[in-house]
Amino acid sequence: MFRTQLCSLLGIEVPIFAAPMGFVTGPGLAAVVSNAGGLGIMSFSGNPPPVLREEIRRLRSLTDKPFGVNVLLTGPHLPFPVEAVVDLCLEEQVPVLSTFWGDPTPYVARAHAAGVKVIDQVGSVADAQRAARAGVDAIVAQGVEAGGHVAGEVTTIALVPRVVDAVAPIPVVAAGGIADARGLVAALALGAQAVAIGTRLIATLEAYAHPVYKQKVLVATEDQTVRTTLFGYGWPNAPHRTLRTPFVERWLPEEGRGSEQRPDEPRIGETKIGGQPVPLLRFMGFPPTPDASGDLESMDFLAGQGVGLVKDIKPAAEVLQELVEGARQIIIQLATGVEN
Ligand SMILES: Cc1cc2nc3c(=O)[nH]c(=O)nc-3n(C[C@H](O)[C@H](O)[C@H](O)COP(=O)(O)O)c2cc1C
Repeated sequence: MFRTQLCSLLGIEVPIFAAPMGFVTGPGLAAVVSNAGGLGIMSFSGNPPPVLREEIRRLRSLTDKPFGVNVLLTGPHLPFPVEAVVDLCLEEQVPVLSTFWGDPTPYVARAHAAGVKVIDQVGSVADAQRAARAGVDAIVAQGVEAGGHVAGEVTTIALVPRVVDAVAPIPVVAAGGIADARGLVAALALGAQAVAIGTRLIATLEAYAHPVYKQKVLVATEDQTVRTTLFGYGWPNAPHRTLRTPFVERWLPEEGRGSEQRPDEPRIGETKIGGQPVPLLRFMGFPPTPDASGDLESMDFLAGQGVGLVKDIKPAAEVLQELVEGARQIIIQLATGVEN
């Protein structure tokens, strides 16, 4: 019932992607979503190429289904070489290279030559057209209600059909605010051929998120997120949607401070990247993983407006199953005009 043309193109069973979430969508979460019939897209998470290679191989050992690896093309001033990371993904022949925050044009022909499909995430019609001209295989239209870094200013319900019309026949995936079966059906009705789900999947057993982060996602409501540039240390002036914690409320009036890259910002804790300890300074945009320690309350709890719909922590495969089953029931009800 839900196998769209994009599902056939990618060799997946259900039109649901685990959105790449920096640090949070690791091999574990990506693999269970792929094993459940969707497309798990692992984030490269700032890992240096040798560590990323190990992560890709770990993901491959956990699933024999298609998966993706996400790379940010520009933006963070983290010590990672985009070219080397893309080359590595192509060498490893990941089924899907997912790109965000930059122009995918230089990479598409190389990816296709390596047998790798490219899916670019955008936040506007203009960027969708650029991706279409570049020859990508599918485009994720990300609405402004999404969690994490947000590319545009238009809501999912307004953006998706505009992108669908602008890039037809290239398949479009809806992202931003989709957290249950109603959102999935709505996205399909807008012309999307799949959905990419981020925030809902933070509250799963397999998400690589600190227990405090998962708990905050459970209790937050849709009006408790903000689109800001506050966590701009290392990635200045890049809008992201995060939870309005007391720390965020305290600093929002001085939002620009977060992008100043002041070397004297206090150290608030520590985390690990690629297994190595990394000090966390105030305003760094690392959502807390189980490796994070220190003053968690000052960290970046990236989440979208769909957070209000997230009420329980469960295995990601169950989330997918509920989405598919719930969507099937809604569609039957709509088609038969049964009152509920
Ligand atoms: C914690 C978090 C981290 C994210 N990191 C990335 C990333 O590294 N690369 C990327 O392309 N998108 C990233 N995103 C955006 C997602 O790919 C997706 O657009 C978004 O989660 C969809 O909206 P939703 O959160 O309302 O489901 C992130 C989102 C979240 C919540």
